[in-house]
Amino acid sequence: MKAIIIYYSLEGNTDYTAKLLADELGADLLRLEPVTSYPTDNKKFLMGGKDATLGIEPPLKEYSFNPDDYDTVILGTPLWAWTMAPPLKTFISTNILKGKKLAFFVSSGGGSDKKRFAKMHKLTGAENVPCLSVVDMLKNKNPDDIAKVKEFAERVRGC
Ligand SMILES: Cc1cc2nc3c(=O)[nH]c(=O)nc-3n(C[C@H](O)[C@H](O)[C@H](O)COP(=O)(O)O)c2cc1C
Repeated sequence: MKAIIIYYSLEGNTDYTAKLLADELGADLLRLEPVTSYPTDNKKFLMGGKDATLGIEPPLKEYSFNPDDYDTVILGTPLWAWTMAPPLKTFISTNILKGKKLAFFVSSGGGSDKKRFAKMHKLTGAENVPCLSVVDMLKNKNPDDIAKVKEFAERVRGC
């Protein structure tokens, strides 16, 4: 299995989870960066929340991804306004992932709702794929979440 983890992270929590997962799976990492960065002060909620709610797809800085190199693509994002962060939406909309084994993970601030993966399922057309939900891992380093990452890696390996 050759896997890549493609993700966006504003403040490092999704990045932390992605790197743990990459260690478990021996996967490559691709961190997406929008051309115009989102702020990290309090304005992030207004600007990021608005773009996420409106379904904005911000342009991304150039990146290198050849789908032929991978059979498994794992998509990761912070939860913004109960959905994926806009840079990941741009990536999904501009790349063909059909035929790949997919898996999704979301890093949230702790809010609980059941729809957090809905747009990722809808945009990729992939319904029954492994999904992982963790809470601010860089900040919390919660052993339960670390165990969840390992268990998720097992599910990805087995699919
Ligand atoms: C614009 C914005 C919107 C957010 N919306 C939610 C939300 O709806 N529910 C939630 O639990 N956390 C929400 N959060 C918190 C982040 O999802 C959470 O802190 C995440 O782990 C941050 O990942 P990062 O450090 O990789 O950027 C939001 C954060 C931002 C910046």
